[in-house]
Amino acid sequence: MFKILSKISLNSRTSRMTLSAPSIANSAKAGQFVVIRVDSFGERIPLTIADYNKNEGTIDIIYQKVGFTTSKLDMKSKGEYISDVVGPLGKPSQLMGYKNAIIVAGGTGCAIVFPQAKQLHENNCTVSTICGFQRKEFIILEKEICDISDFTRIVTDDGSNGNKGLVTDALLSRLEDKTQQYDLVITVGPLPMMKAVCAITKNFSIKTIVSMNPIMIDGTGMCGGCRVSVNGKTKFACVDGPDFDGHKINFDEIILKDKNYSYLYPNKREKNCKLLRGCSE
Ligand SMILES: Cc1cc2nc3c(=O)[nH]c(=O)nc-3n(C[C@H](O)[C@H](O)[C@H](O)COP(=O)(O)OP(=O)(O)OC[C@H]3O[C@@H](n4cnc5c(N)ncnc54)[C@H](O)[C@@H]3O)c2cc1C
Ligand code: FES
Repeated sequence: MFKILSKISLNSRTSRMTLSAPSIANSAKAGQFVVIRVDSFGERIPLTIADYNKNEGTIDIIYQKVGFTTSKLDMKSKGEYISDVVGPLGKPSQLMGYKNAIIVAGGTGCAIVFPQAKQLHENNCTVSTICGFQRKEFIILEKEICDISDFTRIVTDDGSNGNKGLVTDALLSRLEDKTQQYDLVITVGPLPMMKAVCAITKNFSIKTIVSMNPIMIDGTGMCGGCRVSVNGKTKFACVDGPDFDGHKINFDEIILKDKNYSYLYPNKREKNCKLLRGCSE
């Protein structure tokens, strides 16, 4: 059982929890994730380790309430317990040796990429961060991102924060301004966004890491649910990733696979809502 030490609402659909998990905190590295089960009847879902503190023995998770399990998780309060937290899983990000990096994140992707940005900053790499959100009210981690970034640009789809635009436009103008040479781009967010970022960085020949978040089931490389094609070879995001070379990912294939799941999800969502409301059918 894993005790919830704190729970903070970041916005109407996103929360941050600090969990007591000393052995996970002790071996956690940027880029890794945990698989949680809220209670013994629950399904397993992967969530990135958004932060960790080895001295305090804690890990932080930041989750967006999108469906059954994230909503169920959000019903838990400080002082209560989560049944199972397994990790750290996945390969840690390789972040040594870079001098000047750009982080490009969309929505909850900002929580997923935050530990990588923080690690780069601690490695004395200059970090420029570009984050995009739908609306001002959905902006998360603004202060934390500014604290570890040498340059921050936050844009919104509707311009409600005063900066209307797409992360890809902000990235392009940063790269076209040739005053700086970048040796790394990390991007995390919706698949079309990551695909567009990779298309831009390929033209500038900048190494680009993407964090792939496909539907995962076991999270240990056994079910094959998280397959992605990298350079024509099948990889499992849970054990070979979740970080991959963005210029080698077959985005079209994974976007198509994701669309197939979305046909299945409306029913699942309806069923889950009924379950949450306590209806048997
Ligand atoms: C390695 C990894 C790390 C992740 N880290 C985070 C994180 O730090 N914070 C966070 O909020 N989410 C993260 N996710 C996504 C998270 O696992 C899903 O949002 C969660 O499983 C949804 O469960 P649910 O039962 O609440 O929703 P469901 O009822 O299962 O699904 C509801 C909706 O969410 C979509 N969805 C489900 N799983 C995913 C997924 N893996 N990627 C994109 N959309 C999905 C479905 O298509 C559907 O539209 C991560 C996923 C992976 C694979
Ligand atoms: S989640 Fe099963 S193989 Fe990756």
